[in-house]
Amino acid sequence: MAERFFVTGTDTGVGKTAVSALLCAALDAIYWKPIQTGSREGTDRNTVMRLAEIPTSRTVHETYIFSPPVSPHLAARMAGERIELRRIKAPRIAAKQNLIAEGAGGALVPINGTQLMTDLMRQLGFPVLLVSRTSLGTINHTLLSLAALRAAQLNIRGVILVGKPNLENRKAIERYGDIAVVGWLPFLQKIDRRALLAAYKKHFDRKAFEA
Ligand SMILES: Nc1ncnc2c1ncn2[C@@H]1O[C@H](COP(=O)(O)OP(=O)(O)OP(=O)(O)O)[C@@H](O)[C@H]1O
Ligand SMILES: [Mg+2]
Repeated sequence: MAERFFVTGTDTGVGKTAVSALLCAALDAIYWKPIQTGSREGTDRNTVMRLAEIPTSRTVHETYIFSPPVSPHLAARMAGERIELRRIKAPRIAAKQNLIAEGAGGALVPINGTQLMTDLMRQLGFPVLLVSRTSLGTINHTLLSLAALRAAQLNIRGVILVGKPNLENRKAIERYGDIAVVGWLPFLQKIDRRALLAAYKKHFDRKAFEA
């Protein structure tokens, strides 16, 4: 069975793209960012291609792409558009193909006047991975995000931590969040395919990713 995941985070800039690149490399998965904003600063698809060292053919074109680095609802409005959930369809790829979809920002980011990123997650129906920082403040951000994902009745596969090791924060997230931390991506001096694959091997619970 193919694995399909939706990668969300506790915040923007938390490491979703780095984790997505790691999973694309480790699971030989196809990458898809359905809603990209801030494309004038580069796209996450290009970053994943560079970090995971995968060709364009292992990625899917963004459904919506906007230049300004602002929330999707606002970026669309500035472009005179409205993001329509029904236009965002899971890519038609081989059934045996693994897929990593990356959200924009966090779980409750608005995508139009009435809907949030959690509505997109629900529509797609993929198990959700929550990327969180290891550093101070993460317990609150992670528990709030888990509450929002649960309120939306999403299937959460686990939390992935990014940053310097912090065992107490990891334990607190597992205990108070009643959730498994299924991976840890340490701070890397140089992020490349080799380093990402090594991190997967050493710090990820393969059972959570490989059915
Ligand atoms: N493990 C890591 N080691 C070193 N730098 C990292 C690591 N993870 C992420 N970064 C850096 O932190 C920054 C933000 O990471 P990333 O782009 O993955 O965040 P994001 O959650 O995908 O952000 P966005 O909301 O814009 O999609 C990038 O410059 C990235 O290179
Ligand atoms: Mg990203």
